[in-house]
Amino acid sequence: KIAEVKGREILDSRGNPTVQADVILENGTVGRGSSPSGASTGQFEALELRDGDAKRFGGKGVQTAAAHVDHTLAATLCGENVLEQLALDRAMVQADGTPDKSKLGANAILAVSLATAAAAAVTTGLPLYRYLGGVNGTTLPVPMMNILNGGAHAANTVDVQEFMIMPVGADSFREGLRWCAEVYHALAALLKKEGLSTAVGDEGGFAPDLPDDETAIQYIIKAIEAAGYCPGSDFVLALDAAASEWKGAAAGEYRLPKSGRTFTSATLIAHWQKLVETYPIYSLEDGLDEEDWDGWQVLTQTLGNKIQLVGDDLFVTNSTRLAKGIASGCGNAILIKLNQIGSVAETLATIRLAQRAGYHTIVSHRSGETEDTFIADLAVAVNAGQIKTGAPNRSERVAKYNRLLQIEEELGPVSQYLGIQALANRVN
Ligand code: PGA
Ligand code: ZN
Repeated sequence: KIAEVKGREILDSRGNPTVQADVILENGTVGRGSSPSGASTGQFEALELRDGDAKRFGGKGVQTAAAHVDHTLAATLCGENVLEQLALDRAMVQADGTPDKSKLGANAILAVSLATAAAAAVTTGLPLYRYLGGVNGTTLPVPMMNILNGGAHAANTVDVQEFMIMPVGADSFREGLRWCAEVYHALAALLKKEGLSTAVGDEGGFAPDLPDDETAIQYIIKAIEAAGYCPGSDFVLALDAAASEWKGAAAGEYRLPKSGRTFTSATLIAHWQKLVETYPIYSLEDGLDEEDWDGWQVLTQTLGNKIQLVGDDLFVTNSTRLAKGIASGCGNAILIKLNQIGSVAETLATIRLAQRAGYHTIVSHRSGETEDTFIADLAVAVNAGQIKTGAPNRSERVAKYNRLLQIEEELGPVSQYLGIQALANRVN
């Protein structure tokens, strides 16, 4: 039974406040969870409650959300059975009572939800991935590793937010991770040689000033080769355009904030098509705006049988938005971010809906992270197949990879690494 629930304001990886919660059981077991925080947040995400007191953290304090943990959420959960994740999450959602968790804050509710699952795992003596996924969770995710940052995550000239590498030719997670780190170092050497910056962005990828986004792709391909691997077979590339950040002045117009280039939905689709034909890009996230459903349909008809089309801001881990996308043929994969929807139970429901519809699932960090490694366990528990958790640089990113190494070792011979199969059409 839950005896105590406590909230506190801690710092995330950008030095902004976020909510951490402890769930303490009658037997003394402690579970802890921390909410991450995005920069390029989708407008349909659950609300991150901030104090708005300009005297503290420029208004970004979360003391109100932490107090909601101490009072309303503690009152809701104390005395309840910690193993009833679904009922506990439902009770918190009801205590909030709003569709976007704006009363208590998704940051408050998620921190408690994560802490509840963590406490339950400890008290049952199970590793978290096993508690969440039972014996079926055996798939180590293919990393979708962001090694070059642009967009809202870096103060450089690059508009596409994330340039990622996927070690699909590796035999195991451990091997894939090593390959990625080697390419990352090869990229550093290459940039240094050209006199370009090797300073990093929010997710640990390099953030050099480059003449255009295509040049970034070319550098990454060179880095893969320099590290001794083959682009297109050992590694494929993935992009997160985060095109919801590209809203232009007129309706339906896309304007890239850094280069100033403008597109329509149709010309942007043609642009992606050209890149996909030229480079080994196998995954494109948020290639269009979160409200451009018609464009997403065309994009999916155009490229959906060739590559993975991932809805992040489009779906915001929300089963209602995902159901709309499934029904209308928008995208074929979903990015899973717990704090976009704000509880573990709702996240699991969205993952199940995606998997039943044959949509790929990619469990993801946020650009503002903490040392919490919950998403590593979640990815294995649900056999997500893919994980997006940044570069092999910055400990809040590396912590997730290191946790996956532990899980792979623990699972031993039953562990699976799908490689390129993670991108193949499959229905779970
Ligand atoms: P965010 O970026 O956490 O800043 O939203 C991650 C993403 O867009 O995938
Ligand atoms: Zn994204």
